[in-house]
Amino acid sequence: MSENVRTEIDLTGPLQTRTQIKPASHKSAHPVLAAHNWKQNSDMIADAAKLGYLDGAVLDLSYGHGKFWKQWRPDKLTTNDLDPTKGHHHFDVNDPAPDHWVEAFNAVVWDGPYRLSGTRDRGDFDEQYGLGKPVNANETMALLKAGVDFAALCTRPGGHVLIKSQPQVVSGRKVWQPRLLVEHGEKGGLTLVDELFLVRPPRPQPAGRRQVHSRSNYSVLSIMCKPKTKGANRNRGETSTRQTLL
Ligand SMILES: C[S@@+](CC[C@H](N)C(=O)[O-])C[C@H]1O[C@@H](n2cnc3c(N)ncnc32)[C@H](O)[C@@H]1O
Repeated sequence: MSENVRTEIDLTGPLQTRTQIKPASHKSAHPVLAAHNWKQNSDMIADAAKLGYLDGAVLDLSYGHGKFWKQWRPDKLTTNDLDPTKGHHHFDVNDPAPDHWVEAFNAVVWDGPYRLSGTRDRGDFDEQYGLGKPVNANETMALLKAGVDFAALCTRPGGHVLIKSQPQVVSGRKVWQPRLLVEHGEKGGLTLVDELFLVRPPRPQPAGRRQVHSRSNYSVLSIMCKPKTKGANRNRGETSTRQTLL
């Protein structure tokens, strides 16, 4: 039987059944959840698209292997990555954005290398660019903030900036990376409008080590909106932020 057809039993009188056709509009839609165990990033991105956060021209600043777009891909997608073997453009978010990208996109996605400890695990590319050494957490945060600035600059007024990050424990302290990046975006005039929490199966606690903080088993897609007033956050001199926030 079709899921739009419902059979009801009337218990108030003589036994009889009544078949009703539910209007298609009443079909219960799968809601987009704020926290969910999406199988992969691309499933979460597809849900973000359902909410309209990726409408229009999209710029992916850190395209990597393009894994974000495996379920759903915008009609107009511009791809960038510092790695010359990934994406179409290769701008460094620490540099000024090209003039023709300023306020040119409806949505900009920034999934920078957000791991705060160890090496940036980008294999040969790390070697080639001398990034295979451990990076300190402040340097990573500065890069991620530069990416938020770059993304905000390239977003049209009224458009969205989508930032992927994760709270992590560094040297025994929890670093609220998503919060720090959102606060940075807010200083630049962006407003947090939504957050999607991708919940992952937890890894086991290393043997013999006392657990002090809760295990970070989720990453966050922070969705920020740029004010509609054109040029509201220009000229604030922070496009290549190198502030220390930790
Ligand atoms: C976490 S990965 C992104 C993964 C990607 N979303 C995917 O689906 O494969 C981070 C990416 O940021 C890029 N990246 C690192 N530093 C950058 C910079 N300064 N400017 C632009 N891209 C950068 C890296 O080359 C890497 O591909």
